This record gives sequence, structure tokens and C-alpha cells, in this order.
Amino acid sequence: MSLLTGTNLAKSYGPDDIFAGLDVALPHGARAGLVGPNGAGKTTLLRLLAGLEEPSAGVVQRARGVRLGYLQQEAALASEGTLWEEMLTAFNALRSREAELARLETAMADPGQFAAVMERYGPLQHQFELDGGYLYETRIKQVLGGLNLTPDDYDKPVAILSGGQKTRALLARLLLEQPDLLVLDEPTNHLDIHAVEWLETWLNDWDGAVLVVSHDRYFLDQVVNTVWELEFGRVEEYHGNYSAYLVQRSDRREAARTEFAAQQAFIAKEQDYIRRNIAGQNTKQARGRRARLERLFAGRDPNQTLAAGPRDGGQIKIDLRTSLRSGDRVIETEALAVGYRDDGKVLFRAPRPAAVARRMRGPDRPQWRRQDHLPQDPAGRDPAAGRHGQARQQLESGLLCAGTRGAGPRTHGGRRGAERAGDVARPGARLSGQISLYRRRRV
Ligand SMILES: Nc1ncnc2c1ncn2[C@@H]1O[C@H](COP(=O)(O)OP(=O)(O)OP(=O)(O)O)[C@@H](O)[C@H]1O
Ligand SMILES: [Mg+2]
Repeated sequence: MSLLTGTNLAKSYGPDDIFAGLDVALPHGARAGLVGPNGAGKTTLLRLLAGLEEPSAGVVQRARGVRLGYLQQEAALASEGTLWEEMLTAFNALRSREAELARLETAMADPGQFAAVMERYGPLQHQFELDGGYLYETRIKQVLGGLNLTPDDYDKPVAILSGGQKTRALLARLLLEQPDLLVLDEPTNHLDIHAVEWLETWLNDWDGAVLVVSHDRYFLDQVVNTVWELEFGRVEEYHGNYSAYLVQRSDRREAARTEFAAQQAFIAKEQDYIRRNIAGQNTKQARGRRARLERLFAGRDPNQTLAAGPRDGGQIKIDLRTSLRSGDRVIETEALAVGYRDDGKVLFRAPRPAAVARRMRGPDRPQWRRQDHLPQDPAGRDPAAGRHGQARQQLESGLLCAGTRGAGPRTHGGRRGAERAGDVARPGARLSGQISLYRRRRV
């Protein structure tokens, strides 16, 4: 029995059909990543599965008693208490047993009651210990620390925390609650690289099921073993992590293209035969072939092609060559830092202007590698690759668009553009510094 299933799910908003006929199933211990372009309906599907919205058609079934923890996209913890108090609520059941134990300890002081109370206290205390009753404060500290919430924050009212801290606080509470299924909508958006890596480890050490939407391919590679791709109103399931999904998707699309071409050739051949023979000696065979073709076209306009060709997500292709010669300096940055404004966290600082100018002249990657400002990959990998490379691509896209659209990477689609191109990147923002684009640029 699956933990959760969705059968024939459809969702429309007014005249807009987001998807229809979706069948999905999450087994116990699932590690599923949901990917797809912006606006494909990922959040909508999560909300249907989490029971927060009703489908327009179809049913969602959850296993009896299943506990589900849902982190909404861009959600923030709303609470009147302090951060620490809010984390304690994840252990309410355990803490009421703790209070009961304390009450029994007081009662034990009365010699007349001691034996009777002890009989009750012993098993209660044993179970309390087995359930981690003496460890929950340590667990809270571990999870808060992993998500970059420091002891200085513990006693702060949640209301005064930054937006990013509130989101991390909500994620922390969900992790501490340890539901049977964690449904996470873009959980890494407010995490720095260390916190993302901590979350990967935490999820990998955990037994429960996870369904996660993320635009961070490195995170998905570490965490999921199944990918649901939601595109054009359909879900396709792939086994393996994100990298495996990319390979399989490319194979599937190639196979679909081949099948489509073969089908088109077959139709053309049949139509040609029918045209040449319908009025001649072979009219019987031609009529037979026409009937067979009509069955294939059943319900469709016979003047149109039988099947739609395989559809590819939009690929942005930009040809940046130009014959114009410009000055050597094309872009200049001054003390530019890229990171998360909410938390004042710097992901990295831009390299020296001269290096940017050289970079823009060609694919001279080593120029970037030599920059002291690029963060070192903790695993010792090429700093121009992996996550830091991902962040660097965002910087480049930010640099390229900043002067022309007046927008940073987040709005331009350092995020959206990258996703459409099949790349996935966490959104960043320009924290400080200046970007100047020179008028006669050659990029
Ligand atoms: N309450 C609503 N009323 C009307 N349209 C909605 C509503 N919620 C979502 N939509 C539309 O449904 C579509 C799917 O939205 P959804 O938020 O599920 O996409 P998504 O795949 O999560 O996108 P993103 O990657 O940007 O988070 C979008 O076109 C969106 O505008
Ligand atoms: Mg969404």
C-alpha cells in the first residue's frame, strides 16, 4: 500500500487547465523530486496531494493515520512565541509526558505513596527515554544549528526574525516533528550552501518519505531516487537522481522523435498508395488502407498529422557574436557581493573588474579559477564547477542583464532563464556594489 496516491488528478483555475489525468503514487520511504518549468503546476500538485486544495477531478488517497509535514513555497513561520518555544511545540506530546514524570517525582517524596507511584513511574520513564525524551533539546540545537539559526536567536520572538530566518525556522520545526511524509516546496531557497548540505545529510539519515520541489540539481542529486517531471500538464516518472533523469529524458525524447518520424513516414506512404489506387484496379486494398488510417485518426481531423511530435521545453539559444569591435573593458563591478538580502549572507564576491573584462572576451575559464574571491568547494572540487559554478553562472547572468533591464538575477531569470535552459539555480540577489555596462560592449 502506498503512503499516498493521486488518481486521475486534474486541476483547473477558471478556464485554465493546469493539468489533467495525473496518476502518481508515493511508496513508504519515497525520495521523490518534482521538477518542471515555472508555472507548470508543481506547487498546485503538492497542495492537492497535501490536502490543502481540492482537485477539479480525481482523488487523493493517503494511508490511514499518515502524518504529513508541508513546507510551502516561500512560507514563513508565524508565531507569537520565541524561536525556542516554537521548536518545543514539535515535542508537545513528549513534554506532557515529561511533566507527568515530574509530577510523579514530587509525589514520590511522600513515603506513603512511594511504592504505588514508583510502579507507575518506572515504565513511563523507560518509554520516555526510548522515545528520546532526554535528547529533544539536543536535537533542537542540532537542527537549528544546521539551518544556521544560532543560540543568539533562540530567545528572539519569531516575529522579529528576518524572512529567511522564519522560513528556516518553519523548516526546522517540520524536521523536528518527523512526520511520515515531508512535502517540501523549494526548501533550499533560503539556505546557504552549508545549510543545504546539512539538509541533504539530514534527509539521507532519515527514514521517512520525502516529496520535494527544488531547482537545485545538486540537492536533488543527493536526496532523491525518483524524479517526477511535470510538463505540458503531464507527469513522467524517472528512476534515479536528477542526473540520471536528465540522461533518461534525453533518451526518451530521442526515442519519441524516432517513433514520430517513423509514424509520419508510414502515414505519408499509406496516403500516397490510397491516392494512386483508390480509383484503379487496387481500389479494394486502397479502401482497406484508408479505413485503417481512419481508425488511427479516429476523432481527429484527417487533414492533420496523426500524432503531435515530441515536445521539448524551450531552450534559449543566444548568439552573442558580433563583428563590432569594442573597448577592452565591457563590464565593471565595484565591490559587488551576491547573496541573500534577508539574511545579509554573502554567497561570493565578484572578481576584480579586469577579470570580468577578460571573461567576457571568451571562454577563458582559468581566469576565474585564479580569483581569490571565489569560494573554495569544501569537497576540493573545481571551484568553477558544481554549486559554486552554479552560483557563478547566476552572477554572469546577473551581470549581463543588470545594465539592460535594471534587474538583478532573481527577477531577470538568472533563475527563470536558467530553468528554461534545463539548468537549475538558486536565486540570489545583488547585496551591494555597483555594476556598470559600457555602451560599446562586445559580449
Ligand atoms: N489560486 C490560483 N488561481 C489562479 N491561478 C492559479 C492559482 N494558483 C496557481 N495558479 C496558476 O497555476 C499555474 C501553476 O502554478 P504553480 O504555482 O502550481 O506552478 P509552479 O510549477 O509551482 O511554478 P513555480 O516553479 O514558479 O513555483 C500558474 O499558471 C499559476 O499562475
Ligand atoms: Mg511553485
